[in-house]
Amino acid sequence: MREFVERADVCVVGGGVVGLTLARALARRKRHVVLVERGACGAEASWAAGGMLAPQSEADASDPFFALACASRDAYPAFAAALLAETGVDIELDRTGTLYLAFDEQDEAEIERRYAWQTSAELAVEYLTATQARALEPQLSTRVRAALLFPRDGQVENRRLVAALKRTLEVYGVRVFEQTQAEALRVERGRIVGIETARGFVGADAFVIACGAWSSLVPFEFTPARDESHMNDESIVPTVEPVRGQMLCFAARPALTQHVLYSPRGYLVPRRDGRMLAGSTSERAGFTRAVTAAGLQAITTHALEIAPAVADLPLLDAWSGLRPHAASDWPVLGASSEVPNLFYAVGHYRNGILLAPHTADLLAELIVTHNMPRALAPFAPAPPRRSLYSVG
Ligand code: GLY
Repeated sequence: MREFVERADVCVVGGGVVGLTLARALARRKRHVVLVERGACGAEASWAAGGMLAPQSEADASDPFFALACASRDAYPAFAAALLAETGVDIELDRTGTLYLAFDEQDEAEIERRYAWQTSAELAVEYLTATQARALEPQLSTRVRAALLFPRDGQVENRRLVAALKRTLEVYGVRVFEQTQAEALRVERGRIVGIETARGFVGADAFVIACGAWSSLVPFEFTPARDESHMNDESIVPTVEPVRGQMLCFAARPALTQHVLYSPRGYLVPRRDGRMLAGSTSERAGFTRAVTAAGLQAITTHALEIAPAVADLPLLDAWSGLRPHAASDWPVLGASSEVPNLFYAVGHYRNGILLAPHTADLLAELIVTHNMPRALAPFAPAPPRRSLYSVG
């Protein structure tokens, strides 16, 4: 065994918003936490995101995912206030509401269905005629036919959120090792004893994988040796794949719109500092982070459909990020059924920023008390298919 660089109660592997928020939640529960990040914290999907906190805008049914997402959205005011108090960083929580727009018959049918189930579930949603929508947002296209207003949905400035989280981990005494590759998680007789990193060996009682789109790639070393036929067993390593989202950023001073605006094809996100984000694509392009001509074209077309005045905005920047998509479409949250001190916080896909505070609270509760919060049960890692180890 290599020399210890650190010994902790919990080691979080991955320093995106999900891992950072979980590290804070564990530290608030008086756990000594080490966080290991192969690059810079929050520099991948957390940096590329649009920061929308919009569970109602995108939901077609009331299910455990929707409940998780709404609970996390509703946790944001207290989370933002706590981060401000801890760090002085304002994460620009915006609760102006979002508009979801219909431009053709099919879109109208979609928003009517969404309005029907959300009103019957007594959720806050208003149906707007085209005139009412344009009164709220005069730059909306004249082609808009109707809209839904979700007054409780909104957005947050995700890059400020990363900055606040990094700072608050210092306040809580979390050891953060950036530029530190996780080389192998060492499993001995069914428990993780530590993680080999480029800096040395980190020991802990519990380990959490929160590596976003890279979560399936963290290597394991098993003692006794693991049967090779289990290499893709989802109970050990949930399958998470990258789904690329490209984003454009325009200068919009004065602001073109006040609300986050969605159509079924794209979205516009007005930032407090005068930037206007336009997204996005959903591409299975491996781990290639690129902005492509096709991506630019699609996003621009969808942005112009929403607000034709986007055509005159100066383009400031363009980037892409890799969303972590799990096979179930839902996040995978909880303890591995094969390795009890290994936990997963992966597969947040389009909703990592939104889900971070509630994911963190539920998982911290599970890790610290060993009692599984009911809200986590639907997201538990897959049960084992068979024994992990060769017989004899
Ligand atoms: N949450 C928006 C997106 O993933 O594009």
